[in-house]
Amino acid sequence: MKIGIIGTGSIGSLLAKKLSKAGHQVKVTNTRAMPELEKMATSLGANAATIHEVVNDVDAIIFSMPFNAYRDLPKDLLKEVPQDVVVMDTSNYYPFRDGKLPELEQISESEYISEILNRPLIKVFNNMLEGTLKYKGKAAGAQDRVAISIAGDNDKHKKVVAALVDLTGFDTVDAGSLAESWRQQPGTPAYCTEINEVELKQALADAEKGKAPAVRDFIMDNLMKLDSWPSYEEILAGNRLYEMGRRK
Ligand SMILES: NC(=O)c1ccc[n+]([C@@H]2O[C@H](COP(=O)([O-])OP(=O)(O)OC[C@H]3O[C@@H](n4cnc5c(N)ncnc54)[C@H](OP(=O)(O)O)[C@@H]3O)[C@@H](O)[C@H]2O)c1
Repeated sequence: MKIGIIGTGSIGSLLAKKLSKAGHQVKVTNTRAMPELEKMATSLGANAATIHEVVNDVDAIIFSMPFNAYRDLPKDLLKEVPQDVVVMDTSNYYPFRDGKLPELEQISESEYISEILNRPLIKVFNNMLEGTLKYKGKAAGAQDRVAISIAGDNDKHKKVVAALVDLTGFDTVDAGSLAESWRQQPGTPAYCTEINEVELKQALADAEKGKAPAVRDFIMDNLMKLDSWPSYEEILAGNRLYEMGRRK
């Protein structure tokens, strides 16, 4: 497949590396000048592209940018992109980082991004930590393979996404529509707790919409009390500790 990735940070770069290694033709973009982007793209096994090139002549597009950066994208970026191109969003919203957005009390985070991009989306790769993506991938069928969830309104596109996730080393669970994707947002049991398929199905079912923002902020407040920026292990432990307490 031809895949365009917008964002070469922690998640976008790992996805570019894994998907190009798996044989896909990947191009990437970010905000850097072309010479720097080219160096980075080469190190990921990808090609460098401008923001308009990265969405042109591809089968799938992955947006992996800070939540508050989507509004900076060119207007109508996806206008000419055919509807059969699968568009994915990995983003998460944290008010301390992205500013307060009262709209998110009414709609899910990826519905909000979908409105900005004026395009249906598949929400995926948001509920796994960088460390999970980097270190925990396993071959299909391996015992206790970590699972992540996929939300969206197009079943055909979800199948394509599930196959890509499999290549990165993880199982998938269908989390329903984009409107239901709040079940995998920060502060829910399904968010970055590194669980398997059976556990993830239960976690999605257990999610409580009204509680998620407070849980998200509680976990972040605790992590911020650490002396330095929390490590992958500390974030995972923070998410799991809260969940274990909740399930008692
Ligand atoms: N880190 C995690 O563990 C994790 C896990 C799951 C999901 N997420 C979510 O996934 C998204 C990406 O996370 P991340 O940690 O990979 O972020 P990150 O490391 O901060 O990287 C963000 C990338 O987006 C690029 N970018 C920003 N504005 C852009 C624009 N207008 N046009 C093109 N590229 C732009 C940045 O470009 P430059 O490199 O030029 O600055 C950078 O490459 C976030 O919404 C995050 O919440 C993160």
